[in-house]
Amino acid sequence: MAYVVKQITAAETIPVRHQVLRQGKPIESCVFQNDEDSQTFHLGAFHKDELIGVATYLKSKSSHFSQQYQYQLRGMAVLKHYQGKQIGKQLLQFGEEKLALLKASLLWFNARENAWSFYERNGYSKFGEEFMIPDIGKHLVMYKQL
Ligand SMILES: CC(C)(COP(=O)(O)OP(=O)(O)OC[C@H]1O[C@@H](n2cnc3c(N)ncnc32)[C@H](O)[C@@H]1OP(=O)(O)O)[C@@H](O)C(=O)NCCC(=O)NCCS
Repeated sequence: MAYVVKQITAAETIPVRHQVLRQGKPIESCVFQNDEDSQTFHLGAFHKDELIGVATYLKSKSSHFSQQYQYQLRGMAVLKHYQGKQIGKQLLQFGEEKLALLKASLLWFNARENAWSFYERNGYSKFGEEFMIPDIGKHLVMYKQL
């Protein structure tokens, strides 16, 4: 089945973030800081007209890494029914292509435990110790040099 990835607005990401990442939590919890920043971009994966996956890339420097021009990935989510169909992979690939055009040198993020192997299969590495994010669970910093 063909899925199309394209840029979307911050507002469009909210229903998918809510269903996949913040189920049962207030809708406001799905709005991230700097969502509307001019250097932030949001990607959406579509099946026909339905938005089925989202990912957000924010310009943000982590103190763990020395590269000057870093981006952070947030809100990576694919609707349950569509998971395991390479849609997450397509979102990551599109994001990396866009970051290459922007000449960013590193992408990092806080990864949920259930997604660690997904990111590793896509060439991302673990960094440092595990830590807890309250109400969400165990996380690790992961990254890729671009
Ligand atoms: C994690 C997530 C974004 C991955 O997207 P996806 O479309 O399901 O993943 P893909 O189909 O592109 O997977 C690509 C590869 O990773 C594997 N994979 C996907 N999810 C996995 C998981 N949870 N654990 C282990 N491997 C996984 C797939 O088997 C596939 O492997 P292959 O390329 O060798 O066949 C999606 O499952 C999701 O939204 N999960 C719930 C929310 C979440 O945890 N988001 C991440 C927050 S950090």
